[in-house]
Amino acid sequence: MKALILSGGHGTRLRPLTYSQQKQLIPVANKPVLFYAVEDVIEAGIHDIGIIVGPNKDQVIEAVKSVDWDADIEFIYQGEPLGLAHAIKVARDYLGDDDFVMYLGDNILREGIVRHLEHFKKGNFDASILLCEVENPQMFGVAELSEDGRTIKRLIEKPKIPPSNLALVGIYFFKPIVHEAVENIRPSWRNELEITDAIQWIIDHGYKVGWTKVEHWWKDTGKPEDILDANRLILDDIRSDIKVETKARIHGRVIIEEGTQIDESTVIKGPAVIGKNCVIRNAYIGPYTSIGDGCVIENTEVEDSVILEGSEIRNAGRILESLIGRGVKILNSDNHPIGRKLVVGDNSQLML
Ligand code: G1P
Repeated sequence: MKALILSGGHGTRLRPLTYSQQKQLIPVANKPVLFYAVEDVIEAGIHDIGIIVGPNKDQVIEAVKSVDWDADIEFIYQGEPLGLAHAIKVARDYLGDDDFVMYLGDNILREGIVRHLEHFKKGNFDASILLCEVENPQMFGVAELSEDGRTIKRLIEKPKIPPSNLALVGIYFFKPIVHEAVENIRPSWRNELEITDAIQWIIDHGYKVGWTKVEHWWKDTGKPEDILDANRLILDDIRSDIKVETKARIHGRVIIEEGTQIDESTVIKGPAVIGKNCVIRNAYIGPYTSIGDGCVIENTEVEDSVILEGSEIRNAGRILESLIGRGVKILNSDNHPIGRKLVVGDNSQLML
C-alpha cells in the first residue's frame, strides 16, 4: 500500500498568502497543514509516500525534508494543476500496481484514516471514499446514496442543487483500476480531470465502491476562514506545554516554545500556541490564537487568529479573527499626519 499526498495547485482562494507560499504549507496550530496528512498516513502503517508538488515545489520539498519522517518519501512534479485525477496520471509510474490512498494535502481529518483504511481492505473494495455531513454541500463533491443507503449511486462535483448533504472528503482509497478510470474521463467545465468523475467511472463499470462516514470533524482549508476554523479545532485538543520561564498571567491550555520572552504585564488565555523566539510585551493573547516563530507582539490584543512567523505587531489595538502572513508588520505611529498608512499586497483584505 502506498500513499499519494497532493501538495500542488495555486491556492487562489488563499491569496495573498499563496502568492509567496504553497497553500498546504500554511500552518494550523503552528504546523503546516500538509504535515497532518503525512502523520495520518504513517499512523495507518503506510511508509511509501509520494507527494505531488507543483508551482512552489522547492518550498514543499524543503519543508518536508526538514522533518525525520518514518517513511520513504518521493516527490512527483505535476507541471500544470489539471485536476486531482490528473495527479494520479502523473504518479502512474510511482504507484505501479499497488493499492493506494490519495490524500489532499489541504485536508485535515481529526480522527485520522486508520478506521477508513480497514474498511477499504476488509470490504475488498475497488475504491472507497469518506463522506462527511456539511452545511454547504454545493462547495464540494457530493454523494447520492441508494435508497437503503448502502451503496453510492452517483457523485457530482460542486452541484448547484445537491442531492444530499454528504460531501466527499479529500481522502480516497483505490485499487489499480483507478488508472483505467483516469484514462477514460474527460476534463470538466473547469478544465480539470475530476476525481469524482473517475470514481463515477469505477461505479458505472460495475466495480465495488465503498464508503465510510466521518465521525469527528473534517476541514478542507481552502479559504482563510477555514484556516481559522481548523486552528480552533486543533487548539481545542492541545495540552499545556510551557518551555520558558515567565511571570505572565497564563490561563487555560497554552503551548510556549523555547527562546520566547513574555513579560509580566502580558495575559495569555488558552487554548493558544506561541512558537520559538518570540517577544511578547504588554499584550493580551486570547483564546484560539497561534503565533509562529520569531514574532513580536507589543501593546496589542490578539484573539482567535493565526499569525505566521517573523511578524511584528505593535500598538495595534485589538486584532480578531485574522490570518496574518509571514514577516508582516502592523505598527501604529504617533507621528503626524495621523492616519492609516498602508502598504498592502494584491488581494489582501483589511477590515478597519
Ligand atoms: C476537491 C474535490 C471535491 C472534494 C474536495 C474536498 O475540491 O474536487 O470533490 O469534496 O476537494 O476537499 P477542490 O478543493 O478541488 O475544489
